[in-house]
Amino acid sequence: MKIICAKDYKDMSRKAANIISAQIIMKPNCVLGLATGSTPIGTYEQLVEWYNKGDLDFSGVTTVNLDEYRGLPRDNDQSYYYFMNEKLFSKVNIDKSRTFLPDGMEPDSQKACDDYNHIIRSVGGIDLQLLGLGHNGHIGFNEPGTAFEAETHCVDLTESTMKANQRFFASMDDVPKQAYTMGIKTIMQAKKILVVVSGEDKADIVKTAFFGPITPKVQASVLQLHNDVTIVADEAALSKVNL
Ligand code: GLP
Repeated sequence: MKIICAKDYKDMSRKAANIISAQIIMKPNCVLGLATGSTPIGTYEQLVEWYNKGDLDFSGVTTVNLDEYRGLPRDNDQSYYYFMNEKLFSKVNIDKSRTFLPDGMEPDSQKACDDYNHIIRSVGGIDLQLLGLGHNGHIGFNEPGTAFEAETHCVDLTESTMKANQRFFASMDDVPKQAYTMGIKTIMQAKKILVVVSGEDKADIVKTAFFGPITPKVQASVLQLHNDVTIVADEAALSKVNL
């Protein structure tokens, strides 16, 4: 695991965007695994800025996102489909037909998951997977205790995840209780993994996940076993570890 210490959120975003840019430049038809949440927003903004300057070309890029809420239509402004369009897809020259997320409106959860596994296989797997880190160590929506062998599956979100997401919804009742998420097995099959982490509130989980024992109780701890993981974290997120 390579840990890159960034000064602050802006610096973290720039460094992460640099790594993604390098991937796109080295392999213009690459498959990017993308993440939502607040942490990668600055990374996407930076990529858009470089695209606008003419330094990046997304025309050959395929993307597969980590997760989607179950039951939220794509035009709901809290769906991850909406988020990705807003933050990235509508702002660069990516071919929208090559941007994939689980289908949150597919009521048959087995079908939604099988279809998504099929898509990931048919694009040839993931070259670079971007990840944020949940406070309980979740990656995607893989909540504590999920088997590391899981592929795409339907998740009952934990109370703590729903609480963390509440700020985006009018009330707790509106927060979706389930999501479809790429599983750890698929994430671990990505050739490269890039984790972005920012803020003092993530300092404890950074220590537990990346310096503690590898256990399904802390899903991100499995990343210690991957042979090409880069963590870009700011000083605040790294404040509880000695580098
Ligand atoms: C959500 C997403 C995760 C994300 C996590 C952390 O639960 N499903 O992919 O990593 O939130 O979000 P944030 O970056 O806002 O702390």
